Amino acid sequence: ASEAEEKDLVIIGGGVAGYVAAIKAGQAGLKVACIEKRGTLGGTCLNVGCIPSKSLLNNSHLYHTILHDTKHRGIDVGDVKLNLATLMKAKETSVSGLTKGIEFLFKKNGVEYIKGTGAFVDEHTVAVNLIEGGETSVKAKNIFIATGSEATPFPGLTIDEKKVITSTGAIALQQVPKKMVVIGGGIIGLEMGSVWSRLGAEVTVVEYLGQIGGPGMDAEISKMIQKMLTKQGMKFKLNTKVMSGDDSGETVKISTEAAKGGKEETLDADVVLVAIGRRPYTSGLGLENIGLETDDKGRLVIDQEYRTKIPHIRVIGDVTFGPMLAHKAEEEGVAAVEFLTKGYGHVNYGAIPSVMYTHPEVAWVGQNEQELKAAGVKYKAGSFPFSANSRAKTNLDTEGIVKFLSDAETDRILGVHIVGPNAGEMIAEATLALEYGASSEDVARTSHAHPTLSEAFKEAAMATYDKAIHY
Ligand code: FAD
Ligand code: NAI
Repeated sequence: ASEAEEKDLVIIGGGVAGYVAAIKAGQAGLKVACIEKRGTLGGTCLNVGCIPSKSLLNNSHLYHTILHDTKHRGIDVGDVKLNLATLMKAKETSVSGLTKGIEFLFKKNGVEYIKGTGAFVDEHTVAVNLIEGGETSVKAKNIFIATGSEATPFPGLTIDEKKVITSTGAIALQQVPKKMVVIGGGIIGLEMGSVWSRLGAEVTVVEYLGQIGGPGMDAEISKMIQKMLTKQGMKFKLNTKVMSGDDSGETVKISTEAAKGGKEETLDADVVLVAIGRRPYTSGLGLENIGLETDDKGRLVIDQEYRTKIPHIRVIGDVTFGPMLAHKAEEEGVAAVEFLTKGYGHVNYGAIPSVMYTHPEVAWVGQNEQELKAAGVKYKAGSFPFSANSRAKTNLDTEGIVKFLSDAETDRILGVHIVGPNAGEMIAEATLALEYGASSEDVARTSHAHPTLSEAFKEAAMATYDKAIHY
């Protein structure tokens, strides 16, 4: 059906970047088609990323809480058993509900959904190898590339998603491993490591850098969460580089070396999670047919309006610059369509929040202390511990702090860093404040309901330009 008619816009990839752009374009009245090869919409995030991992994080946290944290609350529980198959089923229910929801939104907004693999034939034509068999091709005035990213493999280890896994295997294990080694203490390593540690695995995280959580995480906050996760049973080897692995035997052997050279060690695991980052995905896209190249990191190069050197071909999401986050991909999907339909669009890359969904959660937006120091910016810091917050105390969940960083002279907020209960929701307020150019005093003079965790947020702001009341 699509072969004859020329579209206003064809989008390759139905992940968060692609599907959001498709809906936005449909709403604007464009004739739009979205090509997705997975068979379901929503991309990495909905199918094998954000959504399934958060389902497992939520339910494994509940299990862990019931096992270890009920007695002193006055709740005596009997025999607690893990039913991993049902836990996985609950995950699948959330995933399928959400991916089908996008199909519904496509219909509602007049987006044509083409199930298959797209490849450029020329600058205006995409051939599609259909999932159900056969081929078709679509012509379009404009094309968006939104093909996302994939896990970076570790040289020498063969990913079978059973013994040597990426995050995709880590959301689908059929039994709890006895020993798990995680290569990379970034967000995936800590979230998925947490899940399996809570469910009973002995988890060791090997991280090349001197801190966990990646370089964006504030160093003070990183130290705090590492202590908390250690208390929960996870083990960490920092400043340690994984050199090689051997997966030929029953277990997997991982050889490590001190990052600065020297001390070597071999770790043994039933399951090894490779979580050393993700890389842009463009294979099979036929970029050579239109003369588009990727940079040294595999990213498609674009200008500020998401255009490649072929101006009617734009790129959004993980496959181009910026943090590999779903909400960043979503913002770009909207902005790229607005550039097309209105001639202007906007994403503030300085105010994109990050959240790590461990317990407690870690969340931040803006710059961290080590970045400000390196840039020579004069700043003030103010923080407030959840141990002094009334709601956290009533919830018996008091680990963590809120920390504000603001300009020494103007008090304008430069960054907010939280480790603590509900940090992922609380960071929205910080993001809004940053977006509006608020000062820490603006936040502190805003009334926050009592008793809520958000009062810790207000008091941390207060501690930045004055003194906190309750600490
Ligand atoms: P993708 O979601 O990767 O979508 C690209 C789609 O394009 C894929 O479905 C792919 O099949 C399709 N495709 C590729 N090539 C072709 C082709 N030639 N033809 C047709 N289709 C094609 N981010 C967050 O913000 N919060 C989180 O909590 C979070 N958790 C995560 C947990 C895990 C385990 C992982 C792996 C990632 C997580 N992320 C999270 C990151 C998030 O998933 C990505 O940033 C987001 O999915 C990027 O969206 P995208 O549309 O650019 O790419
Ligand atoms: P990452 O880049 O966050 O972390 C990878 C870590 O591995 C780094 O700290 C790095 O120093 C370390 N490393 C690399 N090579 C190593 C080696 N040989 N030995 C030891 N350590 C090594 O990548 P990760 O965790 O794979 O996640 C990929 C991306 O997915 C994230 O950057 C994020 O954009 C996205 N994501 C987001 C989530 C969220 O928002 N909650 C959840 C999960 C993923």
